[in-house]
Amino acid sequence: MARVLVLGGAGYIGSHTSVELIGAGYEVVIVDNLSNSSLSGPEGVRKITGVDVPFVECDCADPQALGKVFERWKFDAAIHFAAYKSVPESVSEPLKYYRNNLDSLVTLLELARIQGVHGIVFSSSATVYGQPDILPATEQTPRLPALSSYGATKQIGEDILRDSTAAYPGLKGIALRYFNPIGAHPSALIGELPRGVPGNLVPFITQTAAGIRPELSIFGDDYPTPDGTALRDYIDIVDLARAHVAAVNRMLASKQKSDYEVFNIGTGRPVSVLELVNTFQRVNDVKVPFRIVARRPGDIAALWADASLAERELGWKVERSLDQSLSTSWAWQKSLAQQ
Ligand code: UD1
Repeated sequence: MARVLVLGGAGYIGSHTSVELIGAGYEVVIVDNLSNSSLSGPEGVRKITGVDVPFVECDCADPQALGKVFERWKFDAAIHFAAYKSVPESVSEPLKYYRNNLDSLVTLLELARIQGVHGIVFSSSATVYGQPDILPATEQTPRLPALSSYGATKQIGEDILRDSTAAYPGLKGIALRYFNPIGAHPSALIGELPRGVPGNLVPFITQTAAGIRPELSIFGDDYPTPDGTALRDYIDIVDLARAHVAAVNRMLASKQKSDYEVFNIGTGRPVSVLELVNTFQRVNDVKVPFRIVARRPGDIAALWADASLAERELGWKVERSLDQSLSTSWAWQKSLAQQ
């Protein structure tokens, strides 16, 4: 049985990916410093899978601490989720972002190289495209200069992985550029745990529906889009998690066409903020009070994926609808209220 190290596996995407890896027959070891997650992540993974998944609390940027994990287990592949993800925080605290997001990746690559790990899957982001001139964005769409240190860590992270796979024979890399992950596991045992006021749209909507926030601010209705609100590509978290399994499968089966590959992971369908809010209200039969306010600085008008490369090469496709994702998001929010 192949073993996968999941760095940042207690968090939102890492916990869902751990569940799908185990379901696909992989042995998983979760490592996380719990700086932006909690033990409920690994506990949820254990409950869903019935497997006593090992969890090590450790700073992934600490070579000694991560080295101990490599002394204890031998890994076939590793997935790097161990990164901070708040755009505004990255603007006010850039060094925190560069230190954590990049050091943890470099530390992992150094150990992976020495220990003979076959390859690394890296969490990248559609943010690397900025606002493209032509939509949907393909993997060939040029990366634009990052508007935040968070975005810069994703671009530099991709380059670190690309250069490392070019230099060190035997080391493979796959970067997955996520569009907007939403939803939760249908068991409602794991999901997104925003700290403080959510910056992302769906957690803000679920908290508003739950009465934690009085109303949602919709940032701008004067974009050049059909209803004036911004367009994004919302990808279900379980589908996104499955894309990581497909990437690990490809890597370990030596099916990569080059040592370093990049795939967009999105649905290919643009959805406006208003459409998302209306769909949430309809699917869950719950009201979300909202008000249109000014645009949020730094936001782009429209971004969605051409995900056909992932469909062709990874043998992966989206299986969950927007309705399903918004239903599991709401179920997760309600389960939090009962904890
Ligand atoms: C944001 C980040 C992006 C990151 C992604 C990760 C910014 C500028 N971009 O992208 O770098 O990779 O999250 O998930 O922060 N909206 C509202 N009201 C709200 C919240 C959001 O109207 O309270 C709107 C936004 O203006 C946007 C859409 O909803 O049009 C989605 O917003 P969000 O969930 O923050 O994602 P992105 O802006 O796409």
